[in-house]
Amino acid sequence: MKKIVVMGSGNGSNFEAIVKYFQNYDLKILCVSDSSESGILKLAQRLGIENRYLPFEQNDSFFRDNNFELGVLAGYMRILTEQTLTCCNFINIHPSLLPAFKGKDAIKRAYDYGVKVSGVSIHHVSSELDGGKIIAQYPVFLDETMNLSEFEQAIHDVEHALYPPVIKCILENKLFSFDMFLRQDNQGCGGCGGCKH
Ligand code: GAR
Repeated sequence: MKKIVVMGSGNGSNFEAIVKYFQNYDLKILCVSDSSESGILKLAQRLGIENRYLPFEQNDSFFRDNNFELGVLAGYMRILTEQTLTCCNFINIHPSLLPAFKGKDAIKRAYDYGVKVSGVSIHHVSSELDGGKIIAQYPVFLDETMNLSEFEQAIHDVEHALYPPVIKCILENKLFSFDMFLRQDNQGCGGCGGCKH
């Protein structure tokens, strides 16, 4: 059975979307966090997913000792070291159209800047902040009626719809296809909310 690890420091909403998407697949998911009090660890407990607090300094030995098919960063707020990056294939999700708005609070910074199009990026992880080659992106359009919390919600809806199928493609050694993403239901729409505006 393939084994992946989801790494997060925050709430874990992307982790939850991943767990739900893969519940009927033959895939073992482990959850780790660099913050012992993080919501993602509590959520993992509630969902019955194996989880542990993993101090940043222990990443190297942990990834050397475990053989994961994929390391999935979902709100993990530290930059992995070059050494850790040699131990596993890591991907990350970021709530902007990279390379714009790297770093923390990307949604609010994009909103405050007055962007008319933002979105979600999924990318390979490098030792640069939100760096690494892009795997998939999806837009979220803003109009003048949209407030910040509606924009945040639209971004998170896209994240939760986009990350799991992209992970699935990587695990199956396939290229991610938007055709598949857009046709998840019979109405030709993945329901991610990105095209609503
Ligand atoms: C997500 O919006 C993710 O894109 C972002 O953190 C949030 C985690 O939410 N990641 C970054 O900003 C990475 N630079 P979650 O814990 O509810 O999944």
